[in-house]
Amino acid sequence: MSHEVLEKNIGLMAILIILVISVGGLVEIVPLFFLKETTEPAPGVQKYDALAIEGRDVYVREGCYNCHSQMIRPFRAETERYGHYSVAGESVYDHPFQWGSKRTGPDLARVGGRYSDDWQLAHLYNPRDVVPESNMPAYPWLFDATLDGEDTGAKMRALNLASKATCPKCELYSEEEMTAAKDAVAGKTEAQAIVHYMQGLGLASKQW
Ligand code: HEC
Repeated sequence: MSHEVLEKNIGLMAILIILVISVGGLVEIVPLFFLKETTEPAPGVQKYDALAIEGRDVYVREGCYNCHSQMIRPFRAETERYGHYSVAGESVYDHPFQWGSKRTGPDLARVGGRYSDDWQLAHLYNPRDVVPESNMPAYPWLFDATLDGEDTGAKMRALNLASKATCPKCELYSEEEMTAAKDAVAGKTEAQAIVHYMQGLGLASKQW
């Protein structure tokens, strides 16, 4: 077919462009569903416990990802500051993942254990109390909001479905865990939950 025909026929060109992009996309995306590195948990990576699930949901709701990535790139400047670069097998339990792309604040993929719980709580209540030059917003309402755990078991059930679809070797939540979830969470504040979630981030990578 001469190129001229194509260039003068916008409908045909649109169809062929869609075809090319689809094939190119599939060739890149489909293998990811079958690669061990992307479908199996990296060594030591575990599913979130009940409180971490709730904390993670608060993290998503408050939009922490707008300023914080959870994705360390394999460059020396990054690994010296944050630790081992991120690998796909760390995100198998993350639905949706929190990689982010904006770093107004530091990357949080390895923040677990970097500070004490007390530091994290103080920082969340008012970042400037512990980091005077910080421009991170304060989140005092998380200290007043108490979790009731009504939905935590159902969230585990939903996460099981996502794991079954994407990660055959992922550990699923048992019926006992789903039943116990409410008590594990009820009465805790959202601030406690989000700090618990953050204290678990990147712990597995410490043994690599
Ligand atoms: C407007 C941007 C912004 C938002 C939104 C934001 N942060 Fe931050 N964050 C920052 C900045 C800037 C810093 C660095 C200064 C500091 O430590 O306060 C920071 C630092 C941190 C640190 C310390 C990291 C380290 O390695 O020192 C943690 C933990 C943190 N933020 C958690 C959160 C959480 C949880 C949320 C959501 C509830 C959040 N941030 C929302 C900008 C933001």
